[in-house]
Amino acid sequence: MRLVHKIQEVREQIKQWKKEGLTIGFVPTMGALHAGHLSLIKKSVEKCDRTVVSIFVNPIQFGPNEDLDKYPRTLEADCETAKEADLIFAPTPAEMYGEGFRLSNDYLTYVIPPYFYMDKLCGKSRIGHFDGVCTVVNKFFNIVQPDFAFFGEKDRQQLIIIRKMVKDLNIPVEIIGCPIVREDSGLALSSRNSYLTPEQKEDALALSKLLFNIKKCYKQGITDASALKETAFNYLNSHHNLEYLDFRDEDNLEEKSIIDDKTIAFIAVKIGNVRLIDNVSMKD
Ligand code: PAJ
Repeated sequence: MRLVHKIQEVREQIKQWKKEGLTIGFVPTMGALHAGHLSLIKKSVEKCDRTVVSIFVNPIQFGPNEDLDKYPRTLEADCETAKEADLIFAPTPAEMYGEGFRLSNDYLTYVIPPYFYMDKLCGKSRIGHFDGVCTVVNKFFNIVQPDFAFFGEKDRQQLIIIRKMVKDLNIPVEIIGCPIVREDSGLALSSRNSYLTPEQKEDALALSKLLFNIKKCYKQGITDASALKETAFNYLNSHHNLEYLDFRDEDNLEEKSIIDDKTIAFIAVKIGNVRLIDNVSMKD
């Protein structure tokens, strides 16, 4: 595994690999790597000749009141976790956006997904978040030029939006969606879980429990979204600040009042100051 910080170093390495006819897999991350990220890296290593992992806490996808400054930065440990990768690219914000870069929309060409994909779920409270994600992922695609890129279903809205961007902009990369990695308790792994106190972690179990119960009810024949929502509310207590519980189409995020196999149940809850998301597909 080789660690680089400069775009030029990545370009030179990629050029060499392409000359050798090797396929390239790419796993974009913000670091604080855990077994969820590692599952993406393993998939890429399995499928591709060479694997590139980016580690970059992308300032332009954080809102002004979000956790950009306190987001965990653990590069040394991350390099150990990602040692199966061939190249780790950990640029500075200045390397990605230029010296004197300010946290504003000034002077930067953005990739903006359609509002229909952004005005719901996480996009509703995180204004500008998906503009920032699409812009940085598009930049990484141009730098790394991967054949395959791996994204987790944990951030399902992000995955759907990235697929849409790739299709609409004819980006020559195949997007591979990877299943959510969970603790034995059901809790979806997340870098933000490290913010939770032990008591809050107990409360966090409600998210996956509630989603799995929705799926169980659906499998038993209940397809009415509002009835399913009602049963879900029983799992929440006063520590849960529910942001959304929505049923939406797996391709275009349209709302579903009657659930089918193409439906995803999405949830976001704030526990204290920690915002947690999870989702489950009604398929399988
Ligand atoms: P980050 O939150 O670090 O996540 C990087 C990738 O790991 C994403 O594709 C995410 O869905 C996946 N992932 C996280 N937790 C997972 C879990 N428990 N199971 C499976 N996959 C999981 O998502 C981002 O970074 C950023 O928005 C990024 C795409 C890097 C752009 O900045």
